[in-house]
Amino acid sequence: MIKIPFNRPSIIGKELEYIAQAVQGGQISGDGLFTKKCHALIEEKFGAKKVLLTTSCTSGLEMSALLCNIQSGDEVILPSFTFVSTANAFCLRGAKPIFVDIEQKTLNINPDLIEAKITNKTKAIVPIHYAGVSCDMDIVMDIGRKYKIPVIEDAAQGVNAKYKDQYLGTIGQLGAYSFHETKNFISGEGGALVINDEQYIERAEIVREKGTNRSKFWRGQVDKYTWVDIGSSYLPSDILAAYLYAQLESMEQITAVRRKIYKYYLKKLSPLEERGLLRLPRIPSWCQPNYHMFYILLQTQKMRDGLMKTLKDNGIMAVFHYLPLHTSPMGKKFGYKEGEFPVTEDVSKRLLRLPFYNDLTESDQERIVTIINNFVSEIS
Ligand SMILES: Cc1ncc(COP(=O)(O)O)c(C=O)c1O
Repeated sequence: MIKIPFNRPSIIGKELEYIAQAVQGGQISGDGLFTKKCHALIEEKFGAKKVLLTTSCTSGLEMSALLCNIQSGDEVILPSFTFVSTANAFCLRGAKPIFVDIEQKTLNINPDLIEAKITNKTKAIVPIHYAGVSCDMDIVMDIGRKYKIPVIEDAAQGVNAKYKDQYLGTIGQLGAYSFHETKNFISGEGGALVINDEQYIERAEIVREKGTNRSKFWRGQVDKYTWVDIGSSYLPSDILAAYLYAQLESMEQITAVRRKIYKYYLKKLSPLEERGLLRLPRIPSWCQPNYHMFYILLQTQKMRDGLMKTLKDNGIMAVFHYLPLHTSPMGKKFGYKEGEFPVTEDVSKRLLRLPFYNDLTESDQERIVTIINNFVSEIS
């Protein structure tokens, strides 16, 4: 029986009260009172030009692909070490994913390998900020500027983390956040599109509202709304926004809780790293993290799989991340082969994510760390 799950969604304060308010207020479809409150809070705190809540980060990425007019035959640059949506959002429009290997330190796209992949078909660069630790965005943005290619930050895991003095998601032309229940600030399913380049704002509202100018209609700017572009239904119910608003109001409180969990793992596992038995996450000096996740890198896949099983036998769920996209069945259809991205393949075999959620107790963390300690010490 699982006693310590990998993730457990939590309530921080006023979630249920705000949901009741949304329902009693008489509008639970999209763009109600709480959606507007979430938009304003994120725009103000992160200094974003425009934020639109979406049903998921996946939806935010799909909207980005529509806004950048991605067409069949286009190429989009991204890491292979990512979630499927980073690729799918663009493949849905007919683009080919052009994978790039990751760097050892951050497990983010290796910025030094991007430029060589640019062709006249390249229509977007999509870095992800793994574990809420930022890519070296100066290099990525310089390449985007040089070739006039938009940068779309997949900041699914990066909400409330910074690169230098800028919040993740606000640096590229577009950024996408996730509020899925496994993330730091949650609404079950949910996300947001961050629009940092004004040229996309008007169309983003239309694409999100099924290709209509309904947002203008609600603001009284047109007297009827009608079909003006392609689009889909990307806005979440205000019930979800109500839950999310309570979480966003407590963003710093949640971050402090997660920092404590992160620091505990770091302190207790550091001796194992010093003995060369495993590797812990690295946070570059340019990054202010959001403590999204804690992973360890074991020496071999056999050790990773063995530790994962031992933890499971003790009722603890620790999980792997990600299976490389280029070696997946879909990746192979695009012509990719095993061996093309050695760092991605190696990391994917050795990485283990430890349980990480706001209500994780120190005594549960102690149990987890003790099992890791015993396992790694015995096997080495
Ligand atoms: C890097 C990355 N991008 C996108 C997503 C998809 O997020 P969502 O579930 O909100 O669509 C995830 C989910 O974990 C992710 O890790």
